[in-house]
Amino acid sequence: MLTWWRRRFWKRDEAALAELHGLQPATLITGATRGIGYEFARMVVRSGGSVVLIARSESDLQRVRDRLLAEAKDATDHTTPSITTIAIDLTGVDAASSIRDQLGTLNLYIDTLINNAGVGLSGHFADQPPAQIDHLVELNISALTRLTQTFLPDMLVRGHGGIINVASLGGLTPGPFQAAYYASKAYVISLTQALSYENRGQGVRFTVIAPGPVETQFHAQMDAERAFYRRFLPAMTARAVARSTMFWYKLGRTVVVPGVFNTILAICLRILPAPLTSPVVAFLLNPRDDEK
Ligand SMILES: NC(=O)c1ccc[n+]([C@@H]2O[C@H](COP(=O)([O-])OP(=O)(O)OC[C@H]3O[C@@H](n4cnc5c(N)ncnc54)[C@H](OP(=O)(O)O)[C@@H]3O)[C@@H](O)[C@H]2O)c1
Repeated sequence: MLTWWRRRFWKRDEAALAELHGLQPATLITGATRGIGYEFARMVVRSGGSVVLIARSESDLQRVRDRLLAEAKDATDHTTPSITTIAIDLTGVDAASSIRDQLGTLNLYIDTLINNAGVGLSGHFADQPPAQIDHLVELNISALTRLTQTFLPDMLVRGHGGIINVASLGGLTPGPFQAAYYASKAYVISLTQALSYENRGQGVRFTVIAPGPVETQFHAQMDAERAFYRRFLPAMTARAVARSTMFWYKLGRTVVVPGVFNTILAICLRILPAPLTSPVVAFLLNPRDDEK
């Protein structure tokens, strides 16, 4: 307990804190133009926070910015939110440093990082084009890791901030027919839990969310709409996922599984061995291309 207080209050770098005078804290959200990322952005803006929205499509970012500004205008307090957009492909090796450099010219510092952007890949691993697997690993693993490494040190110096990483229920089990995707999300869960312990008591929160299916364009994009899981597993709305995440993040929970049904599934996946879960997961994830 004493160690926690010492780390929390006595190891702050006063020079670094002084540099923050006049700067505004902001939440950086990757993949913010649709789905879960958009709902995170909406929640932060509605609570009066500043946001930095990241995605590849410049036009989608502008559309989302206009929509959030219009919503804020209709709200009762009439304050204009600070919404910064950066159009960038996060799979670029320099993407994280480029984002940090661009933020340096604005009066912002990142107090909360939401690593949400991610992509899935469905089908037999051996048949998947290597470039698509590279792209998945770059986005789901490398980009998330680089962004975390870029913004975490300053949060630790300030003794304040937080990182929310978006994983998946799939990160709790091997996923035949979505093998690389499930493995990438296992990495995200493991990394977040490890960082949470490594940096405990230093004022920075770490939360990883593991949602089950969510009603977004994600499944259609990886051509998985015909898989049985789309029919048998209930999908949550992106808004409900974002709400649940923010609720538990504020309470300091490290691993969040939104929804009661998903929580029961998560417990089963945690306690049952892979030889038992793999056939069931394979049945649910098989894209059934042969029936097209
Ligand atoms: N939907 C589900 O059922 C589900 C379940 C569990 C976990 N998740 C996870 O939740 C996260 C969000 O999923 P979602 O369903 O909301 O996805 P989505 O609707 O497909 O949205 C993906 C977002 O990421 C952006 N993006 C994609 N590739 C990018 C890149 N290379 N660089 C920068 N931005 C990129 C997209 O914008 P641009 O295309 O313009 O770049 C878009 O804003 C993902 O990590 C996913 O794995 C989803």
